[in-house]
Amino acid sequence: MISDKLQEKLNEQVQKEFFSAYLYLSIEAYFASVNLNGFANWFHVQAQEERDHAMMIFNYINRVGGRVILRQIDAPRTDFKSVEEALKLTLEHEQFVTKSIYSIVDVALEERDHKTNSFLQWFVNEQVEEEGNADNNIKRYELVKGDGRGILMLDAELAQRVYAPPALTQA
Ligand code: FEO
Repeated sequence: MISDKLQEKLNEQVQKEFFSAYLYLSIEAYFASVNLNGFANWFHVQAQEERDHAMMIFNYINRVGGRVILRQIDAPRTDFKSVEEALKLTLEHEQFVTKSIYSIVDVALEERDHKTNSFLQWFVNEQVEEEGNADNNIKRYELVKGDGRGILMLDAELAQRVYAPPALTQA
């Protein structure tokens, strides 16, 4: 069982996670268009992870006898003007997602819904990594900004990122 209010918030989060995937595919497309294929790869993997996040919540709602209601996904931004802008938008977006996860945890705690709180703790921890990775990309880019060779080295490093599905996706 799950309350209507929590079900609503979890369904909203499913939408936000799918939107995140859409946003990161849009950023991947931007990087591909400027031939930074390593950056593009990093965002491709990021988009795959966001779909996993959406499906983990989708599966959880089903598992507790709730009803998944899928919503419209807005178009993401496509007008990136620089590498820096795309990387900064990523950090801002992850901070927005963190706040959103926290607001669901707040409701779970208010309702003393400990199973949903427990489920959400994976996301609380994941957001530490998500914000950290986004911040790391900005800082490393700032170190090499203006140095073509440095940017290509960073691009080669980001090309190494490989998708690994979280175990909870199967849950
Ligand atoms: Fe699903 Fe990047 O948070």
